[in-house]
Amino acid sequence: MDLLGDWRRTDYCGNFTTKDIGREIILTGWVFRRRDHGGIIFIDLRDREGIIQIVFDPAFDKLAHEKANNIRLEYVIAVKGTVRRRPEGTENPDLKTGEIEVIVKELKILSESQPLPFSLEPLELQKVSETIRMKYRYLDIRSDRMKEGLIFRHKATQLIRSYLNSKGFFEIETPMLTKSTPEGARDFLVPSRLNPGCFFALPQSPQLFKQILMVGGIDKYYQIVRCFRDEDLRADRQPEFTQVDIEMSFINKEDIMNLIENMIAKLFYELLEIDIQTPIPVLSYDVAMNQYGTDAPDTRFDLKIKDVTECVKNSQFKVFSDTISSGGMIGCINLKNLPLSRKDLDELIETSKELGAKGLLWVKIQPDGWQSPAAKFITDQEKKEIEQRLEAESGDILIFVADKKKTTLFVLGKIRLLLGKKYNLYNDREFKLLWVIDFPLFEYDEDENRIVSVHHPFTMPKDEDLSLLETDPLAVKAKAYDIVLNGTEIGGGSLRIYNMKLQQKIFDIIGLTKEEAENKFGFFLEALNFGAPPHGGIALGLDRLLALMLKRESIRDVIAFPKTQKGTCPLTDAPSFVDDNQLRELFIKRVLPKQ
Ligand code: AMO
Ligand code: AMP
Repeated sequence: MDLLGDWRRTDYCGNFTTKDIGREIILTGWVFRRRDHGGIIFIDLRDREGIIQIVFDPAFDKLAHEKANNIRLEYVIAVKGTVRRRPEGTENPDLKTGEIEVIVKELKILSESQPLPFSLEPLELQKVSETIRMKYRYLDIRSDRMKEGLIFRHKATQLIRSYLNSKGFFEIETPMLTKSTPEGARDFLVPSRLNPGCFFALPQSPQLFKQILMVGGIDKYYQIVRCFRDEDLRADRQPEFTQVDIEMSFINKEDIMNLIENMIAKLFYELLEIDIQTPIPVLSYDVAMNQYGTDAPDTRFDLKIKDVTECVKNSQFKVFSDTISSGGMIGCINLKNLPLSRKDLDELIETSKELGAKGLLWVKIQPDGWQSPAAKFITDQEKKEIEQRLEAESGDILIFVADKKKTTLFVLGKIRLLLGKKYNLYNDREFKLLWVIDFPLFEYDEDENRIVSVHHPFTMPKDEDLSLLETDPLAVKAKAYDIVLNGTEIGGGSLRIYNMKLQQKIFDIIGLTKEEAENKFGFFLEALNFGAPPHGGIALGLDRLLALMLKRESIRDVIAFPKTQKGTCPLTDAPSFVDDNQLRELFIKRVLPKQ
């Protein structure tokens, strides 16, 4: 039975104002709060646009009041009544509709609710574990907090679409059931019933398809697209996430960087009324690594790393001399006058070890000289050079790590972030965007003992480095760029190789034989032979961008139905066992790990 009948709501609960006083209206919504004041029942009725107070007064309508006694929290009801001004002194300034209420003369209970597993009151909801909130996601979504994330996301995607449409881009969908493309993560596989033993992969990104669209002459492509990567999960990583994926032909890297920074500036302006200064600053990968110890630096605060290896090249201090003789690096950060106690500094030593360093040396520069566990091993001349290099003055604290260059930078980079957070070195409302360019094309994979691509193997090397491909491939830089927001990589892209000879050379360097390349992406290489235009593109991590804009700790807050850290969905209980018949049809046998 359709209880609503011919009732149609006049407007959303949150949309009524004092202008509506005297109007007879129909409201629908959920019972958010319920108070019984000496026979008069007050209900805060809620829908997606807000809350309005409705009143059941036996003196006004006995029947409606009687029925209202049965109402419990989160029941879905419809009411007919009249908007009136709240009696003086009972206004609620926290509510958009706080000056009015609706006195009810007719009530329909449309749907009942069991007692809730948790309260939807904002302060109570904060205490509920995220897994429970995810299990009852439909209740969680009723909260302002979740709604804010989802509506923000809706507005952002609309703005992105309208911006890219206005620039002449076409939105084109690419397959979800496909061959895997090499983005570096593990694939999610889907068995093919019609082709026994064969599997599709869910796309880690539409990389090859968007390049093929360029070969197809589409010229400007975008897609707001789901990508799938079977990785270890973190707050800013989900197994399925969304990219704003873009590819353009006949362009250079500045064209793409301009397009993206203007798009992001537009999002900030339209959604948060924040002006982003463009052009966004650009750092080279080398500078980013050397100064911040990461390719995604948080530039909201200083505390840069300095290389002091030269200052102590003849040091008698064993920690330094051993590091230098094995080709390592001594890095130092001047913490200036941050209030670190002796205990805090000792804790930093422990932290540095947990991060993989052998130790950390601290120095407090006192008016009467250096106070440090190693003070007596460091000569006055060395002290002077270090102080000059770090522009240090009395009262400053210096921290040093001596190790392989990679470890020194990594550990100091992490400690820099920890201290930045602990000592509030940045304004939490601030947004700092940054491009990182000139990435190496290759890196050495210690586990696999071979050269691998830093991005993907279709990334174009810098023209001036082409000759190094033969002699020193690890020194070759790529025409690649990442965009970073407050220390998180929110996007990355590159110009692509569109010449088969060069592509073949890259495959040779990463040890991919002709047969392997043919097997993995022969279809794509073939396309490059039929008139491929110069092209390039980028993909933004939409979830990350939105979570950062909203200052949320996790991208799960801007995803309606996310997965847990363990890659599961508490709402549906996916992934789950399927029955043997289903597996048999797919020619799959279950082999479970031994307990
Ligand atoms: P890349 O692999 O750098 O590039 O991905 C682009 C952006 O996607 C986001 N991202 C993720 N967000 C949430 N969860 C994840 N598991 C996850 N993995 C990546 C990041 C990242 O910057 N095809 C290339 C782009 C190109 O070259 O055009 C690509 O996918 O914010
Ligand atoms: P040790 O000679 O081992 O007693 O170390 C002297 C000081 O140097 C201690 O404060 C250590 O924490 C620090 N230290 C040890 N190894 C390193 C390292 N690799 N880099 C920086 N400091 C270190």
